[in-house]
Amino acid sequence: MTAVGIDAIEVRTGRLKLDLAETFAPEMGDDPEKYTKGLGLFASSFPDAYEDIVTMGANAAHRLMERKGLEPQDIGRIDVATESAFDNSKPVSTYIAGCLEQVYDGDFHHANKGERKFACISGTQSLDDAVNWILAGRNRGRGALVIATDTALYARDSSGEATQGAGAVAMYITEDPSMVELSTEQGYGSADETDFLKPNQQFPSVDGKRSMQVYLARMREALTDFERAAGDTHPDDYAFIPFHTPFPGMVRKAALLGYRHMIRGTEVEDELAEDIGRQPRRENFDSREEFEEAIKGYVDDLKDTDAYREWYGEAIDPTLDISSQVGNWYTGSVHIARVSALLHAAETDMDLAGQKLLVASYGSGAQAEIHEETVKPGFADEVEALNIDDQIETRQDISFEEYEQIHDRHNHEKSVELEPFTQPDEEFVFDGWGPMNERKYTYIQ
Ligand code: CAA
Repeated sequence: MTAVGIDAIEVRTGRLKLDLAETFAPEMGDDPEKYTKGLGLFASSFPDAYEDIVTMGANAAHRLMERKGLEPQDIGRIDVATESAFDNSKPVSTYIAGCLEQVYDGDFHHANKGERKFACISGTQSLDDAVNWILAGRNRGRGALVIATDTALYARDSSGEATQGAGAVAMYITEDPSMVELSTEQGYGSADETDFLKPNQQFPSVDGKRSMQVYLARMREALTDFERAAGDTHPDDYAFIPFHTPFPGMVRKAALLGYRHMIRGTEVEDELAEDIGRQPRRENFDSREEFEEAIKGYVDDLKDTDAYREWYGEAIDPTLDISSQVGNWYTGSVHIARVSALLHAAETDMDLAGQKLLVASYGSGAQAEIHEETVKPGFADEVEALNIDDQIETRQDISFEEYEQIHDRHNHEKSVELEPFTQPDEEFVFDGWGPMNERKYTYIQ
C-alpha cells in the first residue's frame, strides 16, 4: 500500500508569554510549584493584539509552503481544526486561503476547504481525512494542508486559567512523506460526555477534575480498541508516545496507566513482580471497588520503579518540552508533542528512522484515538528546519496587567482596542472588520 503521512510541519506560537511561576502564581496567591511541578507548565503563549487563529495558522502555513517550495496548485485540500472559531458558517480555512492568496500568484479555487470540530481531537481527525483522501486516490498528485489552530483561553479565575495557550501547527500530508507514515490501524474510545464544552460561548464550561477522569477512560478504551486492530502493544515497541497534552501533569497520569496496560502479562510484569507484586486481576476480587483500590496501590508502586522511570524519561518526557513552555494549544497540542519528540531525537542524533511512535489524541465531549506512525529518514532535516525554539525564546514577557488587557482584547464580548506589545514583521496580521462583520487580514512586509 502507498505510504501516506506527514511530509512537513510548521509551528507558530503566539508572540506573548505569561510566566506562570513569576507572574501568574503570585497574583493567584499560589505556590509557583503548583504550576511548574504539579501541572508541569512554566509559561503560556498568548496572541498579541494583531494575532488570532487565522494569522497564526496562515503564518505557519506560509512558512511551510516557502520552505518546501510549494505553490497553491500543489495543494488540493485545506482543512482547519479549531475549537476557537468565530463564525458558525464561513470556515477558518477560507480566511487562511485568502491570506495565502495575498502572497502567491496562484489561487486555491481548486482546493477543497473545510473546518473540523470535535474539541482537541479534530486536529488528528483532519489529519486522518487528508490521509484517507490520498489513500482513496482522489488527490490527483496534490498534497493536503492541515492546520490546527487555537487560542485556548479560559474565563478569568476559572480552574483552567493556568493551562491557557495559543498557537498553530500546519502539516503537509503527502504520499511518500519525509517525516512520518501513518498506520491504517486505529483505535477509538468515544462517549457522550459533558466534561468540557462551549455551548455557543467563547470560554469553555469545564468540569476540570472530571475532565481528567474522562480523558483517562476514553484513552484506555482507545488503547484496547487499537490492540483489537493491531495486536498487543509493548512499551519497547515505541520510541515515543506523544499524547494530547492539556498540561504535562495530565500526560504523567495517562502514561502510567498506559504503561501498566502494556506490560500486563509480559516479561516486564514478571521482572517487576519481585519488588511490587503482580498486577491485580479482576477475577481475584469480590467487588469492583476492592479491585480498583488494589490497582491504585499497584500503580503507586509502579511509578517509583526504575523500569517505569527509565521508560518515562525516554518515551514520554521528550514529548513535553514545547508544551511545558507554551500551554495548551487544544487541536495542535498532540502535534507539538510529536514535534517535540522528533526535535529531541534530531538534537541527540537518535537513529529514529524506521522506529515507531504511538500517537494518542483526545478531545473533550469526548473521544480518544490511537494510531501508530513510522518515522521516515527525512524527519531530522524537517524538524531541524523549524524555528520554534527561537519563537519561544523571543516571545515578549508580559506583566499581569498586560495579561489582563490581552485577555480582554481576545474576549469576543468586549471590543477592546489595544496597542500591540510587539512589532509584526513579514507576517499576516488582523486588520479590522469589513462591512459584513468579516475579519480582514493584511500581509506586513
Ligand atoms: N507543589 C507541587 N505540586 C502541587 C502543588 C505544589 N505546591 N500544589 C498543587 N500541586 C499539584 C496537585 O497535587 C495536582 O497534581 P496531582 O493531580 O498529580 O495530584 C496538580 O498540582 C494540580 O493541582 P490541583 O489539582 O489542585 O489544580 P486545580 O484543581 O486548580 O486545576 C485542573 C487542575 C482541574 C486540571 C485545571 O487545570 C483545569 O480545569 N484545567 C482545564 C481542563 C483540563 O485541561 N482537563 C484535562 C483533561 S480534558 C482535555 O485534555 C481537553 C482539553 O484540552 C481541555
